Amino acid sequence: MTEVVTLDKIVALCKRRGFVFPGSEIYGGFAGTYDYGPFGVELHRHVVDAWTRALEWDHDNIALLDSSIFTSGKVWEASGHVSGFSDPLVVCNACHTKQRADHLLESVGITADEKMTEAQINEIFDANRVTVKCPVCGKKDFGKVSAKNLLATASLGMFEEGDEQVYLRGETAQGIYINYKNILDSGYFSVPFGIAQVGKAFRNEISPRQFLFRKREFEQMEMQYFVHPRDAERVYEEWKKERMEYYTEQLGIKKENLRWKQHDNLVFYAKNAWDIQYEYPFGWNELEGLHYRGDYDLTQHQKFSGVDMSVVDEETKEKYIPHVVESSVGVDRTILMLLCDAYAEDEMNGEKRVVLRLSPRMAPVRVAVFPLLKNKPELVAKARAIYVDIKKKLDGKVMWDDNGNIGKRYRRQDEIGTPACITVDFQTLEDDTVTIRDRDTGEQERVAASELVSVLKS
Ligand code: GAP
Repeated sequence: MTEVVTLDKIVALCKRRGFVFPGSEIYGGFAGTYDYGPFGVELHRHVVDAWTRALEWDHDNIALLDSSIFTSGKVWEASGHVSGFSDPLVVCNACHTKQRADHLLESVGITADEKMTEAQINEIFDANRVTVKCPVCGKKDFGKVSAKNLLATASLGMFEEGDEQVYLRGETAQGIYINYKNILDSGYFSVPFGIAQVGKAFRNEISPRQFLFRKREFEQMEMQYFVHPRDAERVYEEWKKERMEYYTEQLGIKKENLRWKQHDNLVFYAKNAWDIQYEYPFGWNELEGLHYRGDYDLTQHQKFSGVDMSVVDEETKEKYIPHVVESSVGVDRTILMLLCDAYAEDEMNGEKRVVLRLSPRMAPVRVAVFPLLKNKPELVAKARAIYVDIKKKLDGKVMWDDNGNIGKRYRRQDEIGTPACITVDFQTLEDDTVTIRDRDTGEQERVAASELVSVLKS
C-alpha cells in the first residue's frame, strides 16, 4: 500500500462524493453502522453482481438462496454460536472504554486472537498488562478479560417471559445449512454442489472500527460447497486458487496487495482455515475466509432438528453427511479494498487531483455526458439526445452533469472513478462529433456521435 492512501482520505472522499455516510449522523452517529449514498449503492451493486456471476453464472452447480435474517433461536444453539461465538472484552479502569484484548495485545506485538479461550487470553493479558496502553486515554489499567458473545439479540415475536430468545443472524451461512435439504429436494442439484447467498449479518462487535472494515451491521457474500468427505481437501485447494484469481483477474486488485494467511487457532466449526488478506491502509487484514468446515454444521442441525442431513451415493449406495468448503467475504470489506486499491493522487494540467482508478466494470458511473455550456440550449439539446441514446444502449450508469465549468466536472468524475467523459461542444453542432476524455491519461479523442457506443464498449 502506498503512503498516499490513508484511511482518513478514503473516509473524507466517501463523504464528500456520496459513497458512504456515518450511520445516524444527524444524531451524533451510531457506532458500527454506515449508510451507502448514491455512488456507494452503485459500487455495492457491482460488487454483488461480480461475485454472483463468478459463482452462480460461472458454475453449473451453484444455487442461489435468500434466507431470512430472523430464524428460530435453535439455529444458533445448534450452530454453536450461542455458546462459542465471542470476542475477548477488556474495560479500561481509567476511562471506562471497552476494548478487544486480542487487538490490544497485537498492538504491542503479542499474538493473540478471538479463538483463544477466556483462560488462555487472560493468562497472556496478565503477563503483558504492564505494556498494554489504552488507545483512548493512554493509561495501563485494565480489568479482567471476559468473553463477550457476538450475537445480537432481538425481540421479534417475543411477547411473554419464557419465549424462545431470538437472534439476528451472525453469519448468512446458517441460512444455507437449514435450507440445504430444500435445495436438494428441489431436484436440480446433487453432491457436489454449492449454495450461495448475499445478505446482512449482525455482530455485537466490542469496538467497531476502521470504517467499513468492522461494522456491527454488515453484508456477507457466502458460498457453502457440499462434497463427499474424500474430495473435501482437493476441493478446498481448488476453491482457494479460484477465489484468489477472482480478486486479481476479475476485480483488478493489485497482486502485491493480496496474500494468504493460515489461521493459527481454528474457530469451533473449522478443520482448516485460510484468509485472503488485503493490505489496507491500517495493515494486512482479513478480506475473505476460506474454511473447511467438515460435517460440523450439518451434523449439528441433524442432532438439534431431528432431520436427516445425509445423502446416498448413487453408485456405491453409501450414506454420508457431506463435508462443507466455505468461501465467505464481506461486501463492505470488498468495497473498502476497491476504494483503497483505486485511490491515487496526481497532477493533471498543472492541477493536483484525486482519482479513483477503478476498473470500468466496477466504476459506479460508466460514462458522464456534459454539454460544454449549460446556458446554450442548442448544446444542451444535442447533449441530452446523446445522453438518452447511450443510456439505452450501454450497460451500467450513464450520468448527466452540467454543473460548474468543465474542469470542475472532470475533477468530480475523476473522484468517483468515471472512466470516460463525453463533451458536446460547438463543433458537435457542425460535424456531429464529440470528445471522449480518458480518466487516467486526461487525453481527449474526437469521435463521431454515431460511433460513440461501440467506442465506449471497446
Ligand atoms: N461464515 C463464516 C464467517 O462468518 P468470518 O471470518 O467471521 O466467517 C467472514 O466472516 C467475512 O465476513 C470476513 O472475511 C469479512 O469479510 C466479513 N466480516 C466479518 N465480520 C465483519 C464485520 N464486523 N464488519 C464487516 N465485515 C465483516
